[in-house]
Amino acid sequence: MKHVLLFVSLIVLVQCKTTKSVVTTEPSEKELTVAQKTWPSTTLDELKEGQAIYKNQCTECHKNFTITKFSEKKWKHEIDDMSPKAKLTDIQKEKLSKFILSYREVNAPAAK
Ligand code: HEC
Repeated sequence: MKHVLLFVSLIVLVQCKTTKSVVTTEPSEKELTVAQKTWPSTTLDELKEGQAIYKNQCTECHKNFTITKFSEKKWKHEIDDMSPKAKLTDIQKEKLSKFILSYREVNAPAAK
């Protein structure tokens, strides 16, 4: 009986872990084209760095929020608010903005 309980809690644990991470696909040419409308010199590497910053430096206090859930206006506000909390440099903040805003535009252009 004890073993069964242990097994069940293990499965629950594993499931919690997997549902916790918000899956975002790697930035592609689509995101790059969108980002370059605002920041002409953007590179794909920068978008990938922005994604890494989001996944690694924005998860210290809470899980990653689903990018497509919020409007561009809300994200700009949150990025301004959260970057100091995550102690991002201006360059890191810019890469994060490029990643989040282009990802949002490609995957949920109508999000309010
Ligand atoms: C030092 C802890 C901390 C870090 C690091 C942090 N956050 Fe937050 N975040 C919070 C807290 C606390 C709240 C809720 C209260 C608030 O909005 O200030 C929050 C709220 C948010 C919200 C609002 C969600 C909603 O439902 O309105 C977003 C979006 C967000 N964070 C994104 C980020 C991003 C992006 C980063 C990385 C740059 C980040 N956070 C890093 C503490 C943190």
